[in-house]
Amino acid sequence: MAELPPLLTASPSDLSRAAELLRAGEIVALPTETVYGLAADALNPAALAKVFAAKGRPLVDPLIVHVADLAQLATIAQPDPRLAALAPLWPGPLTVVLPRLPVVPDLVTAGLDTVAVRIPSHRIFREVLSRVGPLAAPSANPFGYVSPTLASHVRDSLGERCPWIVDGGPCAHGVESTILDLSRSGVARLLRPGPVTRESLESALGAPVETVVHSAPSSQAQLAPGMLERHYSPRTPIRLFARGAEPDIPPAHAAVLLQSRRAAPPAGAEPFHLSESGDPAEAARALFALLRKLDRRGYEVIVAELADESGVGVALNDRLRRAAAR
Ligand code: TXA
Ligand code: MG
Repeated sequence: MAELPPLLTASPSDLSRAAELLRAGEIVALPTETVYGLAADALNPAALAKVFAAKGRPLVDPLIVHVADLAQLATIAQPDPRLAALAPLWPGPLTVVLPRLPVVPDLVTAGLDTVAVRIPSHRIFREVLSRVGPLAAPSANPFGYVSPTLASHVRDSLGERCPWIVDGGPCAHGVESTILDLSRSGVARLLRPGPVTRESLESALGAPVETVVHSAPSSQAQLAPGMLERHYSPRTPIRLFARGAEPDIPPAHAAVLLQSRRAAPPAGAEPFHLSESGDPAEAARALFALLRKLDRRGYEVIVAELADESGVGVALNDRLRRAAAR
């Protein structure tokens, strides 16, 4: 087996190399403020096919296209007047679904007449965008597995399927972007909770945002294409319990994942906490790395405490519920 190249850095020469590879139709994993993305030229079907192959992702699951700014956005999607109101939240961990322009390959949209677009804030990603143009990038994990928040996560789970990775250190938010559907005029729908809360979207838009519920991820018919990726799942089974409650620990080699440090953690399981103090932003940042770590340790079960259902806690709980769904 050929040796993999070392991780690329944020140096100008390494970023030029990453841009060159992308322009040549290769795939490159890049850091974003949410999770690491597996990037490809959004207008090059051969490059896009490599993304699906590397992830083992079904072709019916559309990709998010990342753009540097609204001018780049207007080359692939029909801008919506409501985008002006979202200016305070962009660049950032927010994806907006808009009517597509014909230039966007069907592989990106899975044949839908809409395209999901995001203006990321991460310096490295933005630098590459400015050199290459629109980049499609799903999370850089095998389909269905936990999203990567470190370069080493990408290397560990994709290996030679993605030799080129730019190391930008840990991701600031740690959960994937909020997805807001603005493709129908007069309607705003939240398709995936994320770091940008529904409340902040409503106050920016000055209008209500409907929540699309995906409560039974494995069995329910697909309400939105995004929900096909139902798991975010470690191999280890996960059981959930309410914030602050005393969980039932099964008689097994178990880990208990807590939102904050407890003076007296539940007996019968090895305790881990996402945040010293129970700060939901810190917990979200830590979640995927801890799930990966516990998965490597070979527990028979992970008993996980849900967050309070507010702020980024809504996104955290969404990911925990999906991880627990079998
Ligand atoms: O934070 C993020 O959004 C990360 C980083 C890399 O930007 N990306 C990410 O991509 O989470 P991915 O592919 O793992 O999840 C994007 C979801 C997909 O499940 C997809 O189905 C949904 O967005 N999506 C894409 N295009 C859509 C569309 N036109 N309508 C509805 N949902 C769409
Ligand atoms: Mg993903």
